[in-house]
Amino acid sequence: MHAFDVSLQRHPKFGPDFDTIKDDPVFDPTKHLALEQPAYTLSLADLGYGDELDGTTPTSVAATACFRVLSDEGVAAMQHVCKQLEAFTTSNPRISRNTRGGVYRSKFLRDFSLCPEYSEHLSNIMQTPLLPHAMGHQIAHINYQPLTLGENVDKWHYDTLQVDTVLFVTDPTQLDGGEFQYFKGTRDEMAQLYKAGVPFPAERIESPNMPGPGYAVLMQGNYVVHQACGLRTQADRITLVNGFSYADQNTPDFTALGQLFHADPAPIASAEYARHVALRCCQSLEQTVNTPDYGASPAEQSRKLALVRAELDAAISQLDNAEGTEIVHFGD
Ligand SMILES: [Fe+2]
Repeated sequence: MHAFDVSLQRHPKFGPDFDTIKDDPVFDPTKHLALEQPAYTLSLADLGYGDELDGTTPTSVAATACFRVLSDEGVAAMQHVCKQLEAFTTSNPRISRNTRGGVYRSKFLRDFSLCPEYSEHLSNIMQTPLLPHAMGHQIAHINYQPLTLGENVDKWHYDTLQVDTVLFVTDPTQLDGGEFQYFKGTRDEMAQLYKAGVPFPAERIESPNMPGPGYAVLMQGNYVVHQACGLRTQADRITLVNGFSYADQNTPDFTALGQLFHADPAPIASAEYARHVALRCCQSLEQTVNTPDYGASPAEQSRKLALVRAELDAAISQLDNAEGTEIVHFGD
């Protein structure tokens, strides 16, 4: 019966035909990880969110203090990998230099980003199970300092994924500027301030203390509005953003394909998105396949299938209409 076995891969067997880096270290979680807990977390309520988010997220944790992720050896290896990936930077209307899809170019980066120990650690902090993002260009995104001094690394925005880390690969304590900041407010509040053209209130902008390289902030990137400041003195500033999805199948997806078209080639973003949605739907249907509910009514069976169809319909609509979507951000 082998022909009927289904084995779903979190990461595909083959990526796009991308050049790989020349000197790729072997990732070893026992050597490269030094996982610690954040000293504090902020909740969605702390940012001003309320009942309107019910059903859209399985956790109330919004953002964390900086906590250690990589050992000194891990930092050295990650810096070595990211310096090589700097040869592949691209630009988009928000970020002047980023490397996307690095997981297809470096097995070290891929193995770190998919490491179960790392995901489990972050799941405990977020108080809900997380899975590495199934889209190769969303699982590991690397920002490099712009070549123009003072230009922000990334403008104020929220992410097109559910959960992400911002990990300092280079030493943030050696930088003049380059702070990672988030807004202590909601997306709607930020949108109103931006529309009104008023300065963002300084007392509501938080710059979490970054103790050194290998430390990260974890956040619900789709609800926490954030930015990365420019440098006042030229230096290397590299951050790695790892994307995650909720394992909870009842949480709706949050992928804005039209936004991704600004950062990635449309055929690649579309292939990754179609795969991501197919994986979600397969996981939803697996229960119906393997453990059918013989006591459920016809209407209940219909509802289960309709939920999957609705997800497919929404994805088909995004694929058909994403082209030409305007990019969303809140400026500098
Ligand atoms: Fe972001």
